[in-house]
Amino acid sequence: MSKQIKVGVIGLGARGSSLLEGIILQTPDVEVVAVCDLYEDRTEHAAKAVERSQGKRPFTSQRYEDVLAIDAIDAIVVCTSWDAHIEITIASMEAGKYVASEVGGAYSIQECWKLVETYERTKVPCMILENCCYGREELMVLNMVKQGVFGEIVHCSGGYMHDLRDEIAYGRENRHYRLDQYMNRNGENYPTHELGPIAKVLDINRGNRMVSLVSIASKARGMQEYIKQNKSNDPELAHAAFKQGDIVTTIIQCARGETITLTLDTTLPRYYSRGFTVRGTKGMFTEENNSIFLDGVHDHNAVWSPEWGNVENFREQYEHPIWKKYFEEGVKAGHGGIDWLVFADFFESVKNQTLPPLDVYDMASWMSISALSEESIALGGQPVTIPDFTNGKWMKR
Ligand SMILES: NC(=O)c1ccc[n+]([C@@H]2O[C@H](COP(=O)([O-])OP(=O)(O)OC[C@H]3O[C@@H](n4cnc5c(N)ncnc54)[C@H](O)[C@@H]3O)[C@@H](O)[C@H]2O)c1
Repeated sequence: MSKQIKVGVIGLGARGSSLLEGIILQTPDVEVVAVCDLYEDRTEHAAKAVERSQGKRPFTSQRYEDVLAIDAIDAIVVCTSWDAHIEITIASMEAGKYVASEVGGAYSIQECWKLVETYERTKVPCMILENCCYGREELMVLNMVKQGVFGEIVHCSGGYMHDLRDEIAYGRENRHYRLDQYMNRNGENYPTHELGPIAKVLDINRGNRMVSLVSIASKARGMQEYIKQNKSNDPELAHAAFKQGDIVTTIIQCARGETITLTLDTTLPRYYSRGFTVRGTKGMFTEENNSIFLDGVHDHNAVWSPEWGNVENFREQYEHPIWKKYFEEGVKAGHGGIDWLVFADFFESVKNQTLPPLDVYDMASWMSISALSEESIALGGQPVTIPDFTNGKWMKR
């Protein structure tokens, strides 16, 4: 493979355009040769950004199939709304192109299986762009877990806890996909930001796997109240019923016996958090106040607030090598640097024709949680099984 990677970017809304300009066009040895969005104005806006940066206008289309038909393209980046991720990822693998997809949840288990089967037949790699797996805290804690600092890990929890009421309520004006999701579905629609780092801690698909889940949704009141206060003259939304419960709690059981609790909390007022928490037989970490508790070191009877933020005391010893190197080289843009890291790994695997670190089995199993949670909620919180997308290979991988 030549040193220069030729890339097509599909999906150019808020995320796609910011990744294009902030990360992809800033990456040495990457040339954007095609841009595509269902909306012509977004495609055009992106084409202009590429032309300004590279001095050459890229190919443009509203049909992703046209981009996949370009022989010279080595890799595809999918930043579309959730419903097109798996379809375009599969089509890219069929076209022989390395593909990286933005995060989101799956709509059915069938599409997750199709993803895995396409990879196993074509051997063309795909990667889920789970940038939170590259978070500084997440990686330091992972490093500590691997060194046994927290003992045997028993339980992890996390959430996507982000007040998105304005993004949802202004979905029509901004042509944003989330509004329809919240009006029509009820489930853990965005599991991977917290589940990705937890899966790394628990060796999911590499020595362990997720076996079953139960999911329960609260009533949906947050959007109604927000619309009453801020958009009461909106003819569509003023009397709309939202299906999506305000808080969705999902509990996952793993083959080695650990439990995982995921919380989706996006339609009530709150501060942002992914609530990453790891509990082991010798200690714990929690993102809520960035603190570490170690048995025998800290006093479990003492008031904990003076220790908030004590992760800083562990940096020197446990900072993950990825972040040590990153600080030496200079942290780049994008969600505190994590966007740069996830793309660096993807482009590196394209360049070297190697497997990306977050692979098809991760993508299928993490994304499947959305479809399974919808099913469990629809059944009143009944347990549902999580398929083994590795077909038994998790034991030896
Ligand atoms: N990793 C992160 O930190 C992070 C942050 C924000 C968003 N995201 C993810 O990025 C994705 C996009 O989010 P967004 O906020 O930009 O949404 P958006 O609605 O602003 O943009 C999505 C775009 O995809 C396009 N699209 C949909 N189907 C398509 C198809 N078949 N072919 C071509 N284009 C198509 C739409 O026209 C739209 O312009 C989502 O999956 C979201 O979850 C990830």
